[in-house]
Amino acid sequence: MNRVRLHDKEFEPYISERDVASAIDKVAARLNTDYAGKRPLLIGVLNGAFFFAAELVKRLTIECEVSFVKVASYHGTRSTGKVSELIGLSERIEGRHVVVLEDIVDTGSTVRHILDSLNDHHPASVRIAALLFKPEAYKQDIPIDYVAQEIPNAFVVGSGLDHDGLGRNLPGIYTITES
Ligand code: IMP
Repeated sequence: MNRVRLHDKEFEPYISERDVASAIDKVAARLNTDYAGKRPLLIGVLNGAFFFAAELVKRLTIECEVSFVKVASYHGTRSTGKVSELIGLSERIEGRHVVVLEDIVDTGSTVRHILDSLNDHHPASVRIAALLFKPEAYKQDIPIDYVAQEIPNAFVVGSGLDHDGLGRNLPGIYTITES
């Protein structure tokens, strides 16, 4: 792995492709145990979670379904400030065991919005699985049930994560170089 330049920023290798893969192995093993016989619905949050979702589900030996949503954020017309809406949820999730797949959990506000939206549809359970988690940045009290890799509070790219549209295709994880 070498340093890479994306737009105006430089990134250095941080987690190898092999270490990312073995971190995902462990999450998959836990899901295979915890969801045996439950036929969970895995919901990946686009765009970033496409990589984690694909790598995770190919390791699952249990029956499962896979779907994707997007979170659209916009400023409401009232004084409500920022409003988030879940787009693309076509499955009925009432009574289902749902696992939300996130590329990275930072402050946790995305996870909060997703959980609030999903809970309106009365699933049997909802848990969160994240490829990366920044505990120092996290501001919610929702447990992140499955974390492949905890990282410090720094900006990272690769394995689905981008800097302004670039870097999602990089294998492994790269962290921003302090200049
Ligand atoms: P949160 O709502 O603050 O938890 O942020 C979650 C979203 O912010 C992720 O789904 C990413 O799209 C983006 N994000 C947060 N940290 C990073 C990072 O280090 N690199 C790339 N995207 C990030």
